[in-house]
Amino acid sequence: MSKILIFDFGSQYTQLLARRIRELGVFSEVVQVEDKVSYEEVSGIILSGGPDSVYAEDSLKIPEEIFDLDLPILGICYGMHALAKKLGGDIKREKVREYGRTRLLNLKKDRLFNDIPEKFIVWMSHSDSVVALPENAEIIAKTENNIIAGFEIKEKNIFAIQFHPEVMHSEYGNDMLENFVIQICHVSDTWSLKDFEDEKIIEIKEVVGNKKAIIGLSGGVDSSVASVLMHKAIGNNLKAVFVDHGLLRLNEATEVKKIFHEMFGLDLTVVDAKERFLNKLKGVTDPEQKRKIIGEEFVRVFEEEAIKDPDYEFLVQGTIYSDVIESAASGKKTAKIKTHHNVGGLPEKMNLKILEPLRELFKDEVRKLGELLSIPKHILYRHPFPGPGLSIRVLGEITEEKLEILKHVDDVYIRTLKETGWYEKVWQAFPVLTPLRTVGVVGDVRSYDYVVALRAVDSIEGMTADWSRIPFEVLELVSSRITNEVDNVGRIVYDITSKPPATIEWE
Ligand code: XMP
Repeated sequence: MSKILIFDFGSQYTQLLARRIRELGVFSEVVQVEDKVSYEEVSGIILSGGPDSVYAEDSLKIPEEIFDLDLPILGICYGMHALAKKLGGDIKREKVREYGRTRLLNLKKDRLFNDIPEKFIVWMSHSDSVVALPENAEIIAKTENNIIAGFEIKEKNIFAIQFHPEVMHSEYGNDMLENFVIQICHVSDTWSLKDFEDEKIIEIKEVVGNKKAIIGLSGGVDSSVASVLMHKAIGNNLKAVFVDHGLLRLNEATEVKKIFHEMFGLDLTVVDAKERFLNKLKGVTDPEQKRKIIGEEFVRVFEEEAIKDPDYEFLVQGTIYSDVIESAASGKKTAKIKTHHNVGGLPEKMNLKILEPLRELFKDEVRKLGELLSIPKHILYRHPFPGPGLSIRVLGEITEEKLEILKHVDDVYIRTLKETGWYEKVWQAFPVLTPLRTVGVVGDVRSYDYVVALRAVDSIEGMTADWSRIPFEVLELVSSRITNEVDNVGRIVYDITSKPPATIEWE
């Protein structure tokens, strides 16, 4: 299957670029400049944007070998500067960063700009500009202020543009990407999720054969889709383990059993580990400590299940493409805000081989694959739920009583959002049980009950977030329902902080 390779120079839009190309029906893959890359079946290369200046001391360099491959290359923003510098052009550092919409003059009507009008609006975000072209290059676009916005080296099939075609605000961005991918790179293979499913099932069968595999099923989107896909490939040679640590939403364990065991026929073991986790968490108030305990205990419980049968050879994980890119890119970041846990540590201990069938897919593609596999929509389109579950939403020490309160509050909140059509409009919503108590009146009697905070955010992949503008009437309905239906809750507040400076979860 031929594909387009995207070198990631750190732009926040790199993933978007990969998606746009996949939306054209062509497979695309993001790689880091330091990766050892195989160019087999690559039909074209894109160099992404990035935050650096090409003159910065540690600026990322284009891998030399791509110029020997005779493949079309498209540089975007930083990618354009890096190409210009590498091929003998010159770049000037501007004092003012140009950011936002700009009108562009298209000087060339063929190739990259085929069928694109003479003037159009694009999205710019840069402070360097190309001021002298490499040898044999010609200008293909300028801004109204006469800045070079694109060049082409025809005989080498090298193209460079200053703006971001992948961003929605750029007019004809998709047309340019399509011109590059289809007409310049001549990729004719189409790529669809149905093909992906069929190919993956064949691949899994080949790799696993009649050996056994085990997966931790959490009921979240990724592990659910990975489980059903694996089951379709290897049947009951897959064992799914659902660890009920007692920090889950109301009736979650029952529902997972109903869907995955009864509906899909998975060999599913539900481990009731509520007491174990609660005992370990007794007296613990520090959020990172909670995460660490839950992460470790989770691995232990899972391990106990796994060693019951020595025949397991594979551990299946629901890793998706953004996890892969994030962990590759995370080497570049430094500050750790929160540790997010998964089933780490297990494979080395048990000598299990890791299998990640969804590794190449973005979240929305995982959901679409889930639909092809007939997984119910309320599983596929549910909000993200953290591994440590409600433990980081019961602030301070966790008790059974507090967990029960929070589960019921969550149930009312989410149910009401669904009924009012707001569940699909927000990215994530949940309540937080604070340790604060507050005075109220119930009937004629003084009450002294917990304060609950409601959180709802609009977000892009959880990295940044803004609080959701849920209408007052909906909040009012949620508030009155919670105080009427759930005991021991005396006051409801709504969190209006964005991320940053706050995080999405309170702990
Ligand atoms: P924060 O609170 O870091 O949350 O802004 C961003 C997203 O990550 C989820 N989250 C977690 N997920 N283990 C997880 O698997 C964790 O420890 C964890 N902490 C936060 C959070 O729900 C949000 O979607």
